[in-house]
Amino acid sequence: MTAGSGGVRGSVLDPASLQAEVLAELSWVLIVGATLVFLVTMGLAAWALRQRGKPAVASAWWIGGAGIAFPVAVLSALLIYSTWRTRGLELPPDGDPLVVGVTGHLWWWEVRYRDPASGREIALANELHLPAGRPVQLGLAAADVIHSVWMPSLGGKMDLVPGRLNRLVITAREPGRYRGQCAEYCGEQHARMALWVVVHTPADYERWLQGQLRPAGLSSDPLLQRGRQAFREQGCVACHTVRGHGEGGRRGPDLTHVGSRLTLGAGVLEMGPGAMAAWITGVQALKPGAHMASFRHLDAPTLQALSAYLAELR
Ligand code: CUA
Repeated sequence: MTAGSGGVRGSVLDPASLQAEVLAELSWVLIVGATLVFLVTMGLAAWALRQRGKPAVASAWWIGGAGIAFPVAVLSALLIYSTWRTRGLELPPDGDPLVVGVTGHLWWWEVRYRDPASGREIALANELHLPAGRPVQLGLAAADVIHSVWMPSLGGKMDLVPGRLNRLVITAREPGRYRGQCAEYCGEQHARMALWVVVHTPADYERWLQGQLRPAGLSSDPLLQRGRQAFREQGCVACHTVRGHGEGGRRGPDLTHVGSRLTLGAGVLEMGPGAMAAWITGVQALKPGAHMASFRHLDAPTLQALSAYLAELR
């Protein structure tokens, strides 16, 4: 079990989007077809073994028919069928698609949305939020090495390649939570590069988007104020942005609404009380090689304030 995986769908044979339904059908045709071919081949092999010692019966016919003509016919039929069935799946959708930018980093996902009304951009990490029923075009890029995004219940795999912009179209049908994963080996923490997809009803999606568009709130709670100060003093701002709380870097995930996310560290810890402090002090133990140091030198009051401040960014 990975953090946050309860009730999460993620299987090619459990499709929940227009595109995944086609791929599931294709998968079943291949599984059933391959099983039939395997059984027939094994049957013929058993029959051939029992014929040993007897004079060969028309073996040229068998070699030409079963060894050449049959595979050519089966593979040609599959090629035509799969090309026909998947045609247009990768094309930009008609109408008014939602465009979302997804960038692969070592080892996390940067996800960017632009509000159509205001033109403002928001960034989140390791989570995609999509409206059901509307085509979504993911613009896929990579910041460092090749990654690949795979959300088995929602669509096929697509690589994220440095210097290129790839595209993946998803028309999700059913609200729910879905599991995605980096599917191209990208180094030490490749396995801990999980992506969560939350498919909302259109109304819930709009509410979610409006919430994310808001900058971080300003609390007068002294603990949270101290936490905000620690966030500057400890240098977190060099890599992380909290929109509304001053300038910040873009090397690490945007933390404006980090407290509302499902997990920390791309699926390493389930979000909750204690997770933030565990992550800040134990990054290198939890995800060795990640581009953030373990902040083990923090004294207890500073750690408590910093964790509370971040957890309250919802
Ligand atoms: Cu990124 Cu594997």
